[in-house]
Amino acid sequence: MQSMTAALSPGLYAEVKKSDTHLAITQLTKRFGDFTALKQIDLEIQEGEFVCFLGPSGCGKTTLLRAIAGLAPQSSGKIIQRGCDVSTLPPQERDFGIVFQSYALFPNLTVYGNIAYGLRNRREDRHCIRARVTELLALVDLAGSESKYPAALSGGQQQRVALARALATEPSLLLLDEPLSALDARVRVNLRGQMKALQRRLGVTTIMVTHDQEEALTMADRIVVMNHGVIEQIGTPEEVYRQPVSEFVATFVGSMNFLDAVPEGSSGLRLGSQCLKCLPHGLDDSPRARLAVRPEDVALTPCTTGLSATVQGIEFLGAFLRVRLHLDDSDQPLLADVSARDAESVALAVNGRVGISLPAAAIRLYPASEVAS
Ligand SMILES: Nc1ncnc2c1ncn2[C@@H]1O[C@H](COP(=O)(O)OP(=O)(O)OP(=O)(O)O)[C@@H](O)[C@H]1O
Ligand SMILES: [Mg+2]
Repeated sequence: MQSMTAALSPGLYAEVKKSDTHLAITQLTKRFGDFTALKQIDLEIQEGEFVCFLGPSGCGKTTLLRAIAGLAPQSSGKIIQRGCDVSTLPPQERDFGIVFQSYALFPNLTVYGNIAYGLRNRREDRHCIRARVTELLALVDLAGSESKYPAALSGGQQQRVALARALATEPSLLLLDEPLSALDARVRVNLRGQMKALQRRLGVTTIMVTHDQEEALTMADRIVVMNHGVIEQIGTPEEVYRQPVSEFVATFVGSMNFLDAVPEGSSGLRLGSQCLKCLPHGLDDSPRARLAVRPEDVALTPCTTGLSATVQGIEFLGAFLRVRLHLDDSDQPLLADVSARDAESVALAVNGRVGISLPAAAIRLYPASEVAS
């Protein structure tokens, strides 16, 4: 598959101001009977931003996207798009293009017919429609496929047609609900890069729903992590990965070790009988806490006089080794991802003992009562 590199006509998404707020959602709540699917959501999205809604199944991602589109109006709260209150507008009066998870192309229309659909509805000039469809097809690398029917296209090709169709009327907002999840892994990764590059070139404000953390981390400018109808954290991929605000976010994004620990002072903790330094944690008065540290931040050392562990298993994962450890003193499991060179320097072997170093900056403490779901 080539990259989507066709030249842009001057008209297509020529004017984008990055500094303005595109969408402002305030206190948005959505109820289905007695069930509250979204609870007082506050969210601002800037012009040209690529935002991912990330969270487990049933957390409310699609409901929020559909509320923004007007397809499932909110029970209360406001949606302001480019300064206009669109809260009560029907979908056809809102400015967005949408792509769903399953290829929702019209099966009885050709690729051309599918992409031209919205433009024909607007009664645009035939020549203009032809020029726009040709341009969009080139943009999604499907030039020459005008006369094919959806059934004759692969899943990835169908999603690219769906993307072209969503962009045809030049909406200022692109809404994508798990557009890649029905595709096989290789096509998905390919299309991920292509969609991101296209979004960058067009500068169209985009919201993509996904439950795939890798997809969110690689594509988003900012990630909105959701759980049980609330926003747990909004941040850049790096912020969400490096500074997860809750045990839930820490569990959901990337791999994480969790250990039972005891806070000591404002920036220290005890793990078994070992005292460790960490960043200020605000849990000074708590008798217990959950220590979170990423496997790649666990360093192995030859010195076993401090924090030490027994090696229980070593898994070769190509670029690194995943080491299953058991902490000697506090009797807890721990994973470490180490390079082959680091493994050699501590003479890593199953049943051997190694020293463990947990860098203060890589440790986060969460309240012990918080239960990750
Ligand atoms: N029309 C509806 N009637 C009743 N409950 C609904 C309706 N639509 C969604 N829900 C409920 O609202 C909650 C959020 O649903 P939503 O589809 O937004 O989840 P999601 O985060 O998109 O999940 P997934 O990753 O599985 O697509 C779920 O508990 C769901 O059962
Ligand atoms: Mg969904």
